[in-house]
Amino acid sequence: MADPVGSSLRGSTRIAGVIGAPVRHSRSPLLVNAAFAAAGLDWAFAAFEVAPGRAADAVAAMRTLGLGGLSVTMPHKHDVIAALDRVTPDAAALDAVNCIAWEGDDLVGHNTDGAGLVRSLRLDHQVDPAGLRCVVLGAGGAARSVVRALGEAGAAQVTVVNRTEAKGAAAAELAGPAGRVGAPVDVADAHLVINATSVGMGSPGGAAGPLPVDAALLHGEQVVVDLVYLPLETPLLAAAAACGARPVDGLGMLVHQAALAVQLWTGVVPDVGAMGRAARQ
Ligand code: ATR
Repeated sequence: MADPVGSSLRGSTRIAGVIGAPVRHSRSPLLVNAAFAAAGLDWAFAAFEVAPGRAADAVAAMRTLGLGGLSVTMPHKHDVIAALDRVTPDAAALDAVNCIAWEGDDLVGHNTDGAGLVRSLRLDHQVDPAGLRCVVLGAGGAARSVVRALGEAGAAQVTVVNRTEAKGAAAAELAGPAGRVGAPVDVADAHLVINATSVGMGSPGGAAGPLPVDAALLHGEQVVVDLVYLPLETPLLAAAAACGARPVDGLGMLVHQAALAVQLWTGVVPDVGAMGRAARQ
């Protein structure tokens, strides 16, 4: 079958892409190209392997080549900042950028990860974090973006539970007054539990594999989100389903953060349904 993206590239086609290392496994090209195709946009999206330490060179290349937008993943989320004209308040607070977009002649760094999760909860799962008690497991980059977004969304409580306590305290501050540091036992009292640790990543899937928190703390009144999406059904989500909680996999955040990026680059609100189908292929 002809490549639906490559066969339609023209002189006028705007190129966007993701920079990271490693980046070859990235699902972003699949789901962003699906968004461009569904909207009939003359845009294409590629993956660029950029070695650690070369983030500023990649931003310079974006200016030189006139790339229409860049997604940024590990290990460049912090390093690109110094090469940009400015960053949004979210990206500044998180000290991390996952999306670079043009504003006039300026390159602006955004962070759409946490907002992507909140949108996925609201639009795909009819769960509004406003007023909810939330527990975030982990305090790395993904956790920090989620903690800030939950605080901004009006969560009643954002409790950070992390193996390394000092990192947990720094993350909890990002939620503002709703933020606090907690212990695993707090999971039992939460409406919304979000795993933002890497525990469960690469496990065989289903019930087999390690859990980021004791399954006995989960119960049927909860929504349990796992940001790990390889495998799609993590041991945590299997445990959540087994006790009657609502399991929510990590692809929704991936899709919605990319949808926000597409909107920043093109001005067009993309078809998240088409993106979700591409991501789940
Ligand atoms: P990301 O950018 O994907 O968020 P990260 O910044 O490396 O990744 O963060 C990984 C998170 O998973 C951290 O909160 C880490 O805990 P520490 O801060 O204590 O390092 C957490 N994590 C990783 N492996 C873990 C494990 N085996 N048990 C508990 N937490 C773990």
